[in-house]
Amino acid sequence: MADGQRFADTLEERARELLAEPVHRYVRQGAREGVTAAEATAAWEAFRLLPQVLRDVTSVETATTLLGTPVRSPICVAPTTMQRAAHPDGEVAMARAAAASGSLMVLSSNAGSTFEDVAATGVDWWLQMYVTADRSTCVPLLERAAAAGARAVVLTVDTPVVGTKYDGTGPTVWEVAEPEWLRANFPLEYGDAAGDEKATDLGPQDVDWLATTTGLPVVVKGVLRPDDARRCLDAGAAAVWVSNHGGRQLDHAAATADCLAAVADAVSERAELYVDGGVRSGLHVLTALALGARAAFLGRPPIWALAVDGGAGVERLLGELADELVDALRLAGCASVARVPRSLLTRPGQRPLE
Ligand SMILES: Cc1cc2nc3c(=O)[nH]c(=O)nc-3n(C[C@H](O)[C@H](O)[C@H](O)COP(=O)(O)O)c2cc1C
Repeated sequence: MADGQRFADTLEERARELLAEPVHRYVRQGAREGVTAAEATAAWEAFRLLPQVLRDVTSVETATTLLGTPVRSPICVAPTTMQRAAHPDGEVAMARAAAASGSLMVLSSNAGSTFEDVAATGVDWWLQMYVTADRSTCVPLLERAAAAGARAVVLTVDTPVVGTKYDGTGPTVWEVAEPEWLRANFPLEYGDAAGDEKATDLGPQDVDWLATTTGLPVVVKGVLRPDDARRCLDAGAAAVWVSNHGGRQLDHAAATADCLAAVADAVSERAELYVDGGVRSGLHVLTALALGARAAFLGRPPIWALAVDGGAGVERLLGELADELVDALRLAGCASVARVPRSLLTRPGQRPLE
């Protein structure tokens, strides 16, 4: 691996210079005091590794599948709004980059690009869904996504209401947002009717409802507790996604790195398991795999990369992390992402597990 500065480490600062200030603030911010947002990466950094030796790491396999979709490396793009605020081509540029990287993109239901335009890039994509109080409002969107080629639906369950952010001084992003940055897939009048607000009564039955309505596997995003993971599986979820929404919902929520192992034990072999939140390097991805995740997703860094260099920036970011993961796997004595044991992990000052 090359020495010198990591591209990923330059992104936030460069994006800050390029993005309109309210947009940058919106992307960066966490809810309330920002405790959870600030702790996310540190929680990955708090692990230490016990590398295996005398293992053949001549060739290292990073390819895997996510609900049957092949990916070149288990590093994928989380759903985020406002991608068109970062770059005029927004989600379409993101999709092209994900496709070129052999990655998977989850498209926000609030995206500013149409499902059809995203699908035309050839990317493998899943639809993220905020279910509305009146479920029927979602149906046209779900049917349109399925028809356009979404391979799964990701139900976000941590947002019965949008977490309060203290926006500092100056205009908020909503005051500077162009209409075309958001909601390209909703009818124009969406948002005005009673029932268009986010559902506050989500339950296990919504997992089955989404699966039946779309004919697609359902991923539940925003789970931090093993008991909730079990409820998702009992409800028919094909995968569980450990997330605290990048610290943008309940502040003081625990770090995903600290929740992952217990959820992995609850999920076991019954479903796939993903994680996001503060993942910024191949070493963090290796740690996530060792804790039991099948893939890690990134939220803010791809937006920053899009701002810095469009799709080329996202490709470079994903490529850099994929290279770092290969390097980390090799040095940890793991020949495949499918065989990363939890015994790789320890904490500073703790005795090895075995
Ligand atoms: C600007 C921004 C917009 C987001 N929009 C959505 C969204 O529309 N739907 C969703 O499920 N999560 C959304 N998220 C949360 C991300 O999917 C993801 O959980 C989080 O960003 C991961 O943490 P990271 O940014 O530290 O990588 C958003 C996050 C950010 C930063």
